[in-house]
Amino acid sequence: MRRSGHVLVGPVDLELKGDGTTVIIGPNGAGKTSLLRLMHGIGRLGRGRITWACPTEEALSRQAFVFQRPIIMRRTVIDNLAYPLRLRGNSRSASRAAAEGIAVRTGLADVLGRQALGLSGGEKQKLALARALIVNPDVLFLDEPCAALDGRATREIEEVLQQVTADGTRIIMTTHNMGQAQRLAQKVVFLLRGRVHEHGDAQSFFAAPSTPEGAAFLRGDIVE
Ligand SMILES: Nc1ncnc2c1ncn2[C@@H]1O[C@H](COP(=O)(O)OP(=O)(O)O)[C@@H](O)[C@H]1O
Ligand SMILES: [Mg+2]
Repeated sequence: MRRSGHVLVGPVDLELKGDGTTVIIGPNGAGKTSLLRLMHGIGRLGRGRITWACPTEEALSRQAFVFQRPIIMRRTVIDNLAYPLRLRGNSRSASRAAAEGIAVRTGLADVLGRQALGLSGGEKQKLALARALIVNPDVLFLDEPCAALDGRATREIEEVLQQVTADGTRIIMTTHNMGQAQRLAQKVVFLLRGRVHEHGDAQSFFAAPSTPEGAAFLRGDIVE
C-alpha cells in the first residue's frame, strides 16, 4: 500500500489461520492501521492480493471493523445499534430486538434510550463494538479499541472480546498496550517499517521474542 509515493505497508506475506485473537503490534507508524484496513478491503492494495476462505465479496460482508475513534451517529443508542441491521433490510422491530440483546452482552442495556453523542468515551467505544457485533461477523477487526479508555472500560471491553472469540468470531486487532496483547492474543504479528518482523505464537513471543527488535520493543525501547 502506497500514499504519495511512500510505501506504508508491505511487502507482507501473511497467513492468518485458525481461531482466537491475533494482535498486531509495533511502533507508531509501523503500518498497523494500514494493514488492518487492507485486510478489510478499505485500503487500496498497490500490488498482490488478499484471499479469504470464501469469495472476497462474501468474506467482506461477514467482517466488521471498529475504528480507533468510534463513529457515532446523532441518534439514540438503540438506533445506533439497530442501524446495521436496518441497512441490511431487517424490520424495525427485529432490529431493535437484536439491539436490546447486544446491549445486554456489552453492558449498554441501561443507556439504550440516551443520545449516543452524550455517552462517555468508554460507552462510545462499547457502542462501536456492539454495533460491529450485531451483524454477527466471522472476522472482527479492531484498531486500538482501548487507546483512550480508563482501566474499567478497558476491562469491560476485553471481557466482551474474550466472549466473542469463545463464540467463534475471529479477532484481528492492534494495540499499544502490551498487557492487553498478552491477555488477549493467541498469535502476534510484530510489524516494523511496514513489514512483518516476527509472527507467531503469542506465548513464545512474549516469553522470548526471536528478533532483537522484538525484544527491544517489549522492553519499551524506542524501535524504528
Ligand atoms: N493517508 C496517508 N497518507 C500518507 N501517509 C500515511 C497515510 N496514512 C498513514 N500514513 C503513514 O504511513 C505509515 C503507517 O501508518 P499507520 O498504518 O497509521 O501506522 P500505525 O497504525 O502502525 O501507527 C506512517 O508513517 C504514517 O505516517
Ligand atoms: Mg494506527
